[in-house]
Amino acid sequence: MAKYTLPELPYDYAALEPSISGKIMELHHSKHHQAYVTGANTALEQLAEARESGNLANVNKLEKDLAFNLGGHVNHSIFWTNLAPAGNGGGGEPEGELRAAIDEFFGGFDKFQAHFTAAATGIQGSGWAVLSWDPIGAQLIIQQLFDQQSNTAQGTVPIFQLDMWEHAFYLDYLNVKADYVKAAWNIANWANVAQRFETAREKTSGLLVLS
Ligand SMILES: [Fe+2]
Repeated sequence: MAKYTLPELPYDYAALEPSISGKIMELHHSKHHQAYVTGANTALEQLAEARESGNLANVNKLEKDLAFNLGGHVNHSIFWTNLAPAGNGGGGEPEGELRAAIDEFFGGFDKFQAHFTAAATGIQGSGWAVLSWDPIGAQLIIQQLFDQQSNTAQGTVPIFQLDMWEHAFYLDYLNVKADYVKAAWNIANWANVAQRFETAREKTSGLLVLS
């Protein structure tokens, strides 16, 4: 059975300061993300045990545990690579085909940022703002991801996502979510997003057949 593992960050904990403090990054990566990895492995182990014993009474709980924790692992793994130190891979604006697609589907980078920011700051409870490739519509869409696993469509591929759980910003920004989102633009790694965009478009063409 596959074992999920905590990925190394591609930069030091303090590398994203002042947008995100080293203290938040260390807690977020070594404690929170690690907990999702552990939780996903535990859920898979317990599901295997349940199959083996034939006692599937807890299947609802275990499936929910798997979705939540594996969701957390996926979300954070993408999130870390979506970021880079300001001026050293982070910040600026997207270029090339990604920029053209953002212009096409959102009416310009400013409108995209406003839409994404509203989605991020407006999340009710814990969650994520996500820029996704929708292979059915062959378009970019913005989604609000609730908790780690809810409110997004099956098959959409996240290419840029921002953690809006309080653990992601509260130590630095208290309740002022808008300042956190504003600071996040300074560390957005558009080259990583562009790479994810290219892969998503290439690999998902024809993947979902609806009829
Ligand atoms: Fe998080």
